[in-house]
Amino acid sequence: MPIRVHDVVNHDASLVSRKAWSDPHLYELEKRGIFGHAWLFLAHTSQLPNLGDFVQAYMCETPIIVTHGNDGNIHALINSCSHRGLPVCRADRGNAKSFVCPYHNWNYSVEGSLQAIPQEQHLEGRTDRSLLGLKRVPRVEQWNGMIFGSFDEEIEPLDDYLGDMRWYLDAFFGRFPKGIEFIGSPQRWVIDANWKLPVENQLGDVNHGPFLHAAVIPPEANAEVFELGRSVVTAPGHGATFRLMPEGAPLEQVAWGFEGMASLLAPEVHDYLREVQARAIESVGPLRSRMKGLTYGVFPNLSFLWSNTAFKVSHPRGPGKVEYWSWSVVPADAPDAFKRILRGNHTAFFGPGGILEQEDSEAWTQQRIGSEIDFADDRPYYYGLGLNEEKPDPELPGLVGVTANEFYARNFFLRWRDALAAVEDEA
Ligand code: FES
Ligand SMILES: [Fe+2]
Repeated sequence: MPIRVHDVVNHDASLVSRKAWSDPHLYELEKRGIFGHAWLFLAHTSQLPNLGDFVQAYMCETPIIVTHGNDGNIHALINSCSHRGLPVCRADRGNAKSFVCPYHNWNYSVEGSLQAIPQEQHLEGRTDRSLLGLKRVPRVEQWNGMIFGSFDEEIEPLDDYLGDMRWYLDAFFGRFPKGIEFIGSPQRWVIDANWKLPVENQLGDVNHGPFLHAAVIPPEANAEVFELGRSVVTAPGHGATFRLMPEGAPLEQVAWGFEGMASLLAPEVHDYLREVQARAIESVGPLRSRMKGLTYGVFPNLSFLWSNTAFKVSHPRGPGKVEYWSWSVVPADAPDAFKRILRGNHTAFFGPGGILEQEDSEAWTQQRIGSEIDFADDRPYYYGLGLNEEKPDPELPGLVGVTANEFYARNFFLRWRDALAAVEDEA
């Protein structure tokens, strides 16, 4: 008998079975119940400025090509030939006139329609090509340059799905008059871990910082998180952590960009960062100008590390493997020298060999092993820290708690449980 979803997460999600991280049947339910029905992050418009530009993406395990069509629209196409299923695009990104499958050279437009079947020149009949284009992702929408796709034709609009997370995301995006840009291709690597632990880690688990990262993160930075840190859940599975700096705090203590990097920055970069912060009261308002971000998560598998400007997607590859993608993100109007420093900072801390990334991924791998051990099924993981201590806030949207409160993870697992339960009795 397959395990029942309501036996995996208890009523308030204070207990979550180890099976959630290791069971192949639950993994299949995740694919259908979550990845078949959510908005999934694909790319950023700064990666596709010209007609014919494309980048690769994934929706769970399904390979996607995101293209800027000659019709001016953004398209998301499943990267699999209608003839025998080969990927028709092998490059991570580029500019294409068409996609040609390597096996028999069927030729597809960048908007996905099938344009030519070379074998037909030797045949009498003509195939109806209109139904043989690359399969399209049925819903594609953008918010603030972030492109998302969904396999669910009936899903709510992206704006509604993101809801109040937009207010928090804009606390960063809204600071820069020309927005942000993604640099180059993402760094991609595979970790022997379940996809949900990187997500949980960045949805709100800043509490491991002083412990797992004790050698790297200075004590005063940790003290700032304990004293001024806030954790917010805008909707189950969406969350943000940040420090709300005191009113009147010196500019350099609040400003994004100085943290840990001040000595690397040339004087003109200091001037740029001060200027961004000085403008923040107007651009994002007095409250959000005091926000010094830590980590964000958007259900199900997108995260954003504000201090190191990393966008990450945790792509499942089975219950025990994750393919992690990480993009370096920079303000579009920043000086070039600063963009290079930011990219180096992203890689040094959160690239595949990044010092914090290595510590995290070792923990995630050990958790995966812990989730597979025998004779421990009666010991679910404890998610009860701070149970019911979170509250609405007069100023901040969502439920708000201290960062030690694990309500971000409980809310994630309640949404996870309901999404899986909705499909568990389907044939
Ligand atoms: S598999 Fe693509 S053309 Fe035959
Ligand atoms: Fe970490």
